[in-house]
Amino acid sequence: MSIDLAALPHDFLWGTATSAYQIEGAVAEDGRSPSIWDTFAHTPGKIDGGDDGDVACDHYHRWREDIALMRQLGTNAYRLSVAWPRVMPAGDGPVNPKGLAFYDELTDGLLEAGITPSVTLYHWDLPQVLQDRGGWPARETAEHFAAYASAVAERLGDRVKHWCTLNEPLCSAWIGHLEGRMAPGLTDVTAAVRASYHLLLGHGLAVEAIRSAVPNAQVGIVNNLSTVFPATDRPEDVEAARRMDGHTNRWWLDPIHGRGFPSDMQEVYGVELPIREGDLERIAAPLDWLGLNYYFPQTVADAPDGPVPHVRTVHRLGVPRTGMDWEIDPNGIEELLLRLTDEYGARRLYVTENGSAFPDVVRPDGTVDDPERQHYLLDHLAACASAARKGAPLAGYFAWSLLDNFEWAYGYAKRFGLIHVDYRTQTRTIKGSGYRYAEVVRAHRERGRRAA
Ligand code: FCB
Repeated sequence: MSIDLAALPHDFLWGTATSAYQIEGAVAEDGRSPSIWDTFAHTPGKIDGGDDGDVACDHYHRWREDIALMRQLGTNAYRLSVAWPRVMPAGDGPVNPKGLAFYDELTDGLLEAGITPSVTLYHWDLPQVLQDRGGWPARETAEHFAAYASAVAERLGDRVKHWCTLNEPLCSAWIGHLEGRMAPGLTDVTAAVRASYHLLLGHGLAVEAIRSAVPNAQVGIVNNLSTVFPATDRPEDVEAARRMDGHTNRWWLDPIHGRGFPSDMQEVYGVELPIREGDLERIAAPLDWLGLNYYFPQTVADAPDGPVPHVRTVHRLGVPRTGMDWEIDPNGIEELLLRLTDEYGARRLYVTENGSAFPDVVRPDGTVDDPERQHYLLDHLAACASAARKGAPLAGYFAWSLLDNFEWAYGYAKRFGLIHVDYRTQTRTIKGSGYRYAEVVRAHRERGRRAA
């Protein structure tokens, strides 16, 4: 499938993405305190292979090399996350100068390389001390998040203009507090719903904090959305798909667009929201952009006896899957970009993550060919360009991920990188997909130059 590059604006951001805990390592250095992910990863049985993020890609020490790799790919943007426990080790206390200094130098390094930093403030690594005081189910956490956001924005805001409050609050709330497959590992619907509420409140408060610290800040939020299909046309399954859409998409999109929390889902959860006066307005603070993380579609059947939202995920026959067992369906990314445009009136969109894991092999000559990932990448880019052609205001694409890294509960076994990492030696090798991506970026740039 060819990519309609002419549909993408000349100043399109071509990026890669990572997150702090997944790549940095150096968990006990320069004053960083443990996060809920350190605790979770060190709890026996939680992570495949008994892996943890203690060293990960050692990016904390190797970031210069990693920026050089971004230059080799020719990308002009990079989405990173800041580790709250590095910057405010006590959760709400004083700022740790060494923690901030790391991101300060990284920012300068990126800018010197001609790469626009896009900074996410929360990619799941809550300081453990705040978890001990109630975590996201407690309102105070949202307030502390705003104070932390303000400290980072004040320090980096003279150079960083692209800001994101939360990465995928769905995962923090639902997978972390309802399904228990991610930190903090709870399975409690009340905690989960309260966490979802305070995450979005924290987002709203952080938007205000960033705007008051950074002139011309471009602020957004990143959600992971899915297209949802019913397993059959039985009314029960159609209703299940509606619930799953509520759980995955509407619960996160409606409140930030001033539509409140979907009432059908409030009924499904049966948990009273801890709303205080003014909260819903704060949660709906106007944004400059929306970020879409897209990986796979979901097909669901009714499961009345299962936990909320009472659905069971099924695989569609004949649909190819990645090494995560996730179905491959590039139409989903196009549909979601158009839905954000048409239903939610998005004025600027970024694909903030998209990518695939496959079991890569380093060949005897030292190269890594990854035809399946290359197909995934090119097909999804084509679908993005098609959405742009149809009117989605798409301003950038960030491939997940720059590097193979710590894939949460799956540990190091699942490789999403455009660049292979040998965890024994920390050797980085650009994969075939990395070279492919570089070609697309170059072709788009050349077309812009010709047009100018
Ligand atoms: C997303 C996460 C990211 C990575 C990819 C595969 O849900 O934001 O950290 O794990 O999935």
